[in-house]
Amino acid sequence: MDDTFDLLIRGGRAVTPGGVGDADVGVRSGRIAALGDLAGAKALETLDASGLLVLPGVIDSQVHFREPGLEHKEDLATGTAAAVLGGVTAVFEMPNTRPPTIDAAALDDKLDRARGRAWCDVAFFVGASPENVDALGELERRPGCAGVKVFMGSSTGSLLVEDDETLERVLRSGHRRVAVHAEDEPRLRERHGIAADRHDPAAHPDWRDVETAVRATRRLLALARRTRRPVHVLHVTTAGEAALLAEHKDVASMEVTPQHLTFAAPECYERLGTLAQMNPPIRSAEHREALWRAVATGLVDVVGSDHAPHTLEEKARPYPDSPSGMPGVQTMLPLMLDHVAAGRLTIERLVDLLCAGPARVYGAATKGRLAAGFDADIALVDPGARRTITNDAIASRCGWTPFDGMEVRGWPVATIVRGRVVMRDGELLGEPSGRPVAFLP
Ligand code: DOR
Repeated sequence: MDDTFDLLIRGGRAVTPGGVGDADVGVRSGRIAALGDLAGAKALETLDASGLLVLPGVIDSQVHFREPGLEHKEDLATGTAAAVLGGVTAVFEMPNTRPPTIDAAALDDKLDRARGRAWCDVAFFVGASPENVDALGELERRPGCAGVKVFMGSSTGSLLVEDDETLERVLRSGHRRVAVHAEDEPRLRERHGIAADRHDPAAHPDWRDVETAVRATRRLLALARRTRRPVHVLHVTTAGEAALLAEHKDVASMEVTPQHLTFAAPECYERLGTLAQMNPPIRSAEHREALWRAVATGLVDVVGSDHAPHTLEEKARPYPDSPSGMPGVQTMLPLMLDHVAAGRLTIERLVDLLCAGPARVYGAATKGRLAAGFDADIALVDPGARRTITNDAIASRCGWTPFDGMEVRGWPVATIVRGRVVMRDGELLGEPSGRPVAFLP
C-alpha cells in the first residue's frame, strides 16, 4: 500500500482529544490518517507548523450570509471567504434570508448556490413558521440541513413562532436539536415604546430587557422538557438564563457569542452607537461576567459568532430604525485566542467551544476534532502574533467590524478544509470547494 500522505503538517503543537502536545498530522483523501511523530513519512505537500498551534477548524454554527435576497450585505462567496480567513472551516447558515428558508426548494436553492462558491463547508437551517410546522420533521432530515431554527422574538426578517401552542407543535415535529432565538415577542411588543421614544441605541437593552430573554428561555425549557425535544439556546445573554440552563442540561444546550463575552453596556453604545446594536442586546458587565462563569464551569456548549452583517449606511439610520446585528465570522477565533492569551479560558476549552461543541450539539460526526478518521479541517494558529483588527481587513461585503482598532494576540495563519489549504497568511488559495456538512440521522 502507498503510505504517502497527501498533506503532512509537521512540527506543530496539536490540540487533540488527548490533550495538547507535539504532533505531526498526516492527511490522506481529505481525512486525518495519522497523528503523532511522523518523522520520515512521505507526503505530496508539507506544511511547517513549528511554533504554531494546530487546532481543528472552527465550526461557526450561527452565521447569516444573506443570500438569496440581501446580497448587498453579504453572499455565500464573501461570507465563506471571511470564514476561512478567520480559521473557520464550516458554517451553519441561518434561514432569515429573502425568501426565508422554509421549504425544500429554498434549502436546495441555497445548496445549489453554495456549490463552487463556498470556501468552507456549509449547512443551512430551516426556519420554523406556523405555515410549515407539519413539514419540519421531513425538512430537518434533508442533506445539508443543520436543523430547525426558531425565532421566538422578531429580529431581522419575518420568521416568528411567538406562542406556546405553535412552539410545542414545532418541538413535536421531529427529533434533531432545535436552535432557538429566545426573546419573548409579546413583551417586545409591549415595550417597543422604550426604543421608539429614546432614539438612542443605549435604550436597546432596556427595550429588549433581561426579563424578555429570561421569560422566553423559561417558556422554551418547559416545552422542551414536556416534549422531550432537545433545544439549543442561541446567544444567551443573562445570568438568569444561565441559572435556568444549569437545571436543564438534559434537554438544552447553550451558546454564547464573542461579542457578549467582550463588550459591555453602557460603554459599547457610547463608543459604537448602533454598530453595537444586536438581538439579544449587549448587556451590563455583570451579565458578561455571568457568561464567563458559565464558560468556566462548563455550562456553555458552543461559542458562535452570530455573524449578522448590515451595511454602514443601514446602520447609520436613526435608532430604532437601524437594523440589529454585527459581523463576526472572521474575528471570532482571533478574539477568543486573545481571551486565551489573557487567561480567561484555556486553549483546550476554546477548541471544545468552537470546534467539538458545535459538532456534538448538531451531530456533525466527522468534524470538530483532530482525530483519526475525522475530516482534515484544520486551523494553524500563531498564538503569539499581535495584530490590530481593522475594517480594511474584513472580507465580509459589509466592510466593517465592531472590533476595529482592537489589538488581539493569537491569529490563524492557515486554514485547511478537508485537506486542501484554502488560506495562508491572509490570502485565499485555490478554488472554493466547500461541500454540504453531513450529520447523524
Ligand atoms: O442582531 C441580530 N441580527 N439578531 C438576530 O437574531 C438576527 C440578526 C440578523 O439576521 O441581522
